[in-house]
Amino acid sequence: MRGWSLAASADHVKALVKAHAAGDEEGFYAVALQMAAKAARQGHNRLAAELRDLIDRAKVEQVPERVSPTPVIRPKGELAELVTAEYPRIRLRDMTLSKTVHEALQRILHEQRQRARLESYGFEPIHRVLLVGPPGTGKSMTGAALAGELGLPLFTVRLDGLISRFMGETASKLRIIFDAAKKTRAVYLFDEFDAIGAERTAVNDVGEARRILNSFLLFLDETRPESPVVAATNHPQLLDRALFRRFDSVIAYDLPDRGQAKEVLRRRLQIMDTTKIDWPAIENHSAGLSHAELVRAAESAAKGAILRGEESVSTAALIAALDERANARRE
Ligand SMILES: Nc1ncnc2c1ncn2[C@@H]1O[C@H](COP(=O)(O)OP(=O)(O)O)[C@@H](O)[C@H]1O
Ligand SMILES: [Mg+2]
Repeated sequence: MRGWSLAASADHVKALVKAHAAGDEEGFYAVALQMAAKAARQGHNRLAAELRDLIDRAKVEQVPERVSPTPVIRPKGELAELVTAEYPRIRLRDMTLSKTVHEALQRILHEQRQRARLESYGFEPIHRVLLVGPPGTGKSMTGAALAGELGLPLFTVRLDGLISRFMGETASKLRIIFDAAKKTRAVYLFDEFDAIGAERTAVNDVGEARRILNSFLLFLDETRPESPVVAATNHPQLLDRALFRRFDSVIAYDLPDRGQAKEVLRRRLQIMDTTKIDWPAIENHSAGLSHAELVRAAESAAKGAILRGEESVSTAALIAALDERANARRE
């Protein structure tokens, strides 16, 4: 950058920092482009080209929707009673996932991000997703991570709660949610989705159970491809097989294997000194626990150490916390 006067660009640098602080990505790149133009005017063509190239690449990798800050959408009126809204910041990389699940989720994100390209050829991105697997393996978290990745709000509907709260009116309440979904781009997470399975719903009225299911299926057909619908269930056996076919992608979650269990523990213990932990000794004690249980055990061990004024978590303390989780599970 010899000869390129930094002093003359002080305003640009200030503008860059301001744009960054405000989360104004568009503004940030606009300033960067001005800097490139200025460099070109000063005869620094290589620098100008490099800058433009960097900006182009950064923009391509960006989700278009994240370029402008997400407007804050709050569910209003009756909708506010039916769904919870969040703006998750979590990302896929914050999760510990098997290769298969990770790839399936990456594919959804890729198709969603390249939606315009697919649509110009008459294709729709994957947007109806069913997550099945044991409790505590990250299904609900995935709804949040997809929203976080796509820069969209997450609207969560707990179907068990909805059904027990509204009984005979559930289908009409779902309709309110679905109508809103057509207007508001978001990730819609239908949690505890098995509650919709006709056999074991809290609804005794078989007719109503059918209506709930049918109205959900209709919704799946009508839903906009840019608003992913994620249904999650711990009890896939309660669901009609025919229902599975209505989803673009069915992803099976599982308990973590040894490597994944270690990763979950390590990540949760990141702020602590874990160099003394004998990981092979931990393995037997983490087997069979879900990601959520491992996180809780790590938290409990970390808190114990902190309160004892220690900076490192010991193998014995971690094993005790894991065993406590395993015992709680057996009760
Ligand atoms: N795959 C995972 N990777 C990292 N943490 C996880 C994972 N699965 C679960 N957790 C932890 O456990 C908590 C509960 O998980 P959750 O997504 O509600 O599980 P599920 O919906 O499958 O029952 C999460 O908030 C997170 O702290
Ligand atoms: Mg869940």
